[in-house]
Amino acid sequence: MSILVVGSINMDIVNRVVNHPLPGETIHGLSTDYSPGGKGANQAVAAARAGGQVTMLGAVGTDPYQEALLKSLHDADVQTNGIMKKQGTSGMAFITVDGSGENTIILSEGANGKLTVQDIEERLHLLDHAHFVLLQNEIPVETTFYVLEQAKQRKVGTFFNPAPALQIPVEIFPFIDCLILNETEIEVVTGIRIRTEAAMEEAVQWLIAHGVSTVILTLGEQGSYYVSKEEGAIRTSGFIVPAVDTTGAGDTFIGAFAAAKASGKKTRESLLFATAASVLTVTKPGAQNAIPLGTEIEAFLEGHK
Ligand code: RIB
Repeated sequence: MSILVVGSINMDIVNRVVNHPLPGETIHGLSTDYSPGGKGANQAVAAARAGGQVTMLGAVGTDPYQEALLKSLHDADVQTNGIMKKQGTSGMAFITVDGSGENTIILSEGANGKLTVQDIEERLHLLDHAHFVLLQNEIPVETTFYVLEQAKQRKVGTFFNPAPALQIPVEIFPFIDCLILNETEIEVVTGIRIRTEAAMEEAVQWLIAHGVSTVILTLGEQGSYYVSKEEGAIRTSGFIVPAVDTTGAGDTFIGAFAAAKASGKKTRESLLFATAASVLTVTKPGAQNAIPLGTEIEAFLEGHK
């Protein structure tokens, strides 16, 4: 089964620091690195490395970064025939990672912001050939919602990761087969503060009541909480590892989960596979550079039985 990712492609400019600066503070950084990222491209690489057949639909700029961004996708065996070149800069993410691996990210949308509904209309054949489509929130929102609608009409399974967090119009919820989000994002989407297990359940059920078929709440070291209309609830636990850099961990979970489902794995197995993939990602610096292969994920799971 093939996976289409419609989303962002960024060059991540990563500064390592001991502690994040406070507002108004100037601090010395420890190092600066350039590494391919972008939530869309990270999810595409994660799905491909996990064994999926993946095509990326997105845009890079005409700046020197485009080459490294396309190469990283090629090297992971992601099909790049859906990637356009838009005059100007590629998407960039200015990332600061502290000693505990936690990051802050400022996006500069560049070419990602120029991906229009018309670009998608001209490439609907890519959607016709897909079984699943993965979307995030780093391209114009009207483009994302158009893809969701078109995918639903074509009976292509839709995975939507509303990151960075956004409010979703009620008419869009029924187009979402699988909404994957973290605790911050679910609060923005539902308006429900997640401070207790009961509040978490209320927020998940609110999404299901509004027409989403499946919700996956990612809980970091606590694993994930899956609820679907068909299968009910599945809770999986996480793994504790020393974190070097959490950048791209959520993207890796999503890409690996989609690849696992596309390969026919059962849901619980797919959730564990995705959790292991994201855990392995945090043990290395960078986004795409840190994403593991399917064989590495299986070996990790074997060692943690
Ligand atoms: O989710 C991590 C990603 O967010 C980074 O790679 C960065 O490019 C931003 O899009």
